[in-house]
Amino acid sequence: MTEEALRLILDRNATVTEHFLRGIYSEDPDLKALLEAEQYSLFAGGKRIRPTLVLEFCRMVGGNETAAIPFAGAVEMIHTYSLIHDDLPCMDNDDLRRGKPTNHKVFGEAVALLAGDALLTGAFEVAATNTAVTPEIAAMATAYLAANAGRYGMIGGQVMDIEGEHRKLSPEELLKLHSLKTGALINASCVLGALAAGISPGDAAMEKVILYAEKIGLAFQIVDDILDQTGNEQSLGKKTGGDLEHEKNTFLSFYSVEEAQFYADRLTAEAVDAIRFFENNEILIALAKWLATRKK
Ligand code: IPE
Ligand code: IPE
Ligand code: MG
Ligand code: MG
Ligand code: MG
Repeated sequence: MTEEALRLILDRNATVTEHFLRGIYSEDPDLKALLEAEQYSLFAGGKRIRPTLVLEFCRMVGGNETAAIPFAGAVEMIHTYSLIHDDLPCMDNDDLRRGKPTNHKVFGEAVALLAGDALLTGAFEVAATNTAVTPEIAAMATAYLAANAGRYGMIGGQVMDIEGEHRKLSPEELLKLHSLKTGALINASCVLGALAAGISPGDAAMEKVILYAEKIGLAFQIVDDILDQTGNEQSLGKKTGGDLEHEKNTFLSFYSVEEAQFYADRLTAEAVDAIRFFENNEILIALAKWLATRKK
């Protein structure tokens, strides 16, 4: 699959997800600031990798896209909330996100915090009320999403990240940090796609889905670390150099850029191997490879 063909698929998945997400909002003049703040970040662009994982896993294992769309919306809501909070002065204190001033710069810290809260809680409402799947699948998916976004998932990773500033972690701790702060939501994205298609948690197919997710999740954060040092602010839409400035533990605290890229490439090859098992795996193979070499 060419990069151009993959680009078209990513664009289409983004459009489908954004159309769904626009539909969850209705006007309320009393809540104008909150609604504006949420939609400011939600519709600011972004690669929409996580919704694509939901939709493409659902398709690859034979499911109907309709069943996966609300889950795609829900994971992107959680991701967007995590970015709003990650940029706050008490966290990474960033001014630029998705090519625009960060949420708190525009709406103030209180509204930014609450916009994040509303996206987080709203995501569970959206996932739990997915009527295109059975109530059992909706409940299972919502619980899985909550677990991966929460204390033993993304939040746990964010705490390790913040507490690790100015302190050198062990390689094992760094792997855990990355797998939690970024890997957990990527894992949930892949699994929710498979759940939407009716794959059960104990199935052999689900094990392969999770293996792919774990590998690309870690590779994704390694590449994010590399781009923080070597990337272009303009194309990334966010500031570079912040990791060094905050003395964060990243892959570049342990490895050279070349070694870190080699590590990410190895994980990518393992992810690709994990889904050889499936027919119609071309898109997810191309996606894994593109994520390892992305410049944004
Ligand atoms: C950035 O995620 C935060 C990390 C988990 C590394 P993305 O690189 O997916 O950000 P967007 O959604 O494209 O803005
Ligand atoms: C963020 O990691 C992971 C989240 C859960 C948001 P980073 O702090 O490295 O993400 P960027 O580089 O700001 O996008
Ligand atoms: Mg951070
Ligand atoms: Mg950050
Ligand atoms: Mg980063």
